[in-house]
Amino acid sequence: MPLDKLSVNRDGFSSKFGIIAAAAGSAIGLGNIWRFPYIAGQGGGAAFIIVYAIFIIFIGMSCMLVEFVIGRRSQRDVIGAFQTLSPGKPWFLSGWLATVTITLIFAFYSVVFGWTLDYLIKSVLNSFSGMSPNEITSVFGNTTSQIFRPLIYTFIGIALTVLVVMGGVQKGIEKCAKILMPILFLFLIILVIRSVTLPGSSKGLLFLFKPDFSKLTGNTILTALGQAFFTLSLGVGTMVTYGSYIKKKEKLASTVVYTCILNSCVSILAGIAIFPAVFSFGISPEQGPGLAFVTLPNIFQQMFGGYFFGIIFFLLMTTAALTSTISMLEPLVAVTTEGLKVPRKKATIIIGIIIALISIPCSLSFGIMSGVKFMGMNFFEFLNYITANFGMTFVSLIFTVFVGWFLGSKTVKAELSNEGELKVGYYPVFMFLVRFVVPVAIVVVFLSGIGVI
Ligand code: PHE
Repeated sequence: MPLDKLSVNRDGFSSKFGIIAAAAGSAIGLGNIWRFPYIAGQGGGAAFIIVYAIFIIFIGMSCMLVEFVIGRRSQRDVIGAFQTLSPGKPWFLSGWLATVTITLIFAFYSVVFGWTLDYLIKSVLNSFSGMSPNEITSVFGNTTSQIFRPLIYTFIGIALTVLVVMGGVQKGIEKCAKILMPILFLFLIILVIRSVTLPGSSKGLLFLFKPDFSKLTGNTILTALGQAFFTLSLGVGTMVTYGSYIKKKEKLASTVVYTCILNSCVSILAGIAIFPAVFSFGISPEQGPGLAFVTLPNIFQQMFGGYFFGIIFFLLMTTAALTSTISMLEPLVAVTTEGLKVPRKKATIIIGIIIALISIPCSLSFGIMSGVKFMGMNFFEFLNYITANFGMTFVSLIFTVFVGWFLGSKTVKAELSNEGELKVGYYPVFMFLVRFVVPVAIVVVFLSGIGVI
């Protein structure tokens, strides 16, 4: 079928602002506010951030553009895209792998979304009031190790996501992102101002901006690469699917640049909102996943105006999480509606139920299933580790090799230049990165991370 026929009647984003809000909404998530600060804290702060920034600029941006090209060219979901662009070849298997990876990410991410909702309610009810630091710390363990409470909140998070995605691309996803993203920035700025005005906050800023390279190991570098893919929502079909909803007249490259800049600003601002506060209250920055849920409620408890800032912080996490889970559900819905011809509403609900089922062992791995270990990690940690470090990176490797070596230079250039209408001076650099730099870097970091090099 001719490509432009396929795009008729396809739902899609209505405006440039809508595209950027949705793409940045996907990228900006718990990855920036919950995952980035604790990973950077464990990885030594600034040294880690430098490596991560290099990965974002040279690898992440190219990979996002690669996904937009695949999506917009094919006007299909992530599996159908390869069947359309390269019929009869096995490339579509990478779409399957992306689909499995996003399913697993969605499941464990929903659990953190659930904790976030639980903590939001706790903050509103002022539940931490009068508690000692030890008591606040034990709240996290007590909440996450229960059977039903975290599951109920997890299911609420999934249900909210289903409700938005059911509304469609323009009337559900785009509309929601346009409302939530500006609010998210407002919340973040309020928190940053509070954090940097605390006494002793400069230590936290030094930790974020003064590098200590002795902390960098193969594994830290692999984690930085994994985080770059995770935070930009790459290697799981999200950006292929969103790319397929971008109108043919829009500029793909500038969309990538805006999205990556907004996303990086949020990570850095989240770091500035969190670390000065952490240092100001004399807490260790290497907390791990509990950083947002243990350290911060402690700090809010001791801080002037803490009740108010606590609520704002968990509202920020909730908005960030929702626009991201939406972008995890949509690629799965697209695969089901376009590939299997299931109606949108039905597809959305069925997938929601499947994700809810997989989220159960993820949530229980902090309680009754905590003894079940995979490579020394509980089920949740194991999924978090393999999806970001292996699933996303491997799929991105295949996507880039496909666009760099197999899709054809003419096709790629036509897509980037909107069929010759735009000047694409960056094209040779982009192709060089996609053909050589990105695949080699992924393979090297991969091998050194697992200890082969
Ligand atoms: N980028 C999101 C975050 O940082 C996570 C995400 C991963 C979203 C994959 C969609 C797809 O939280």
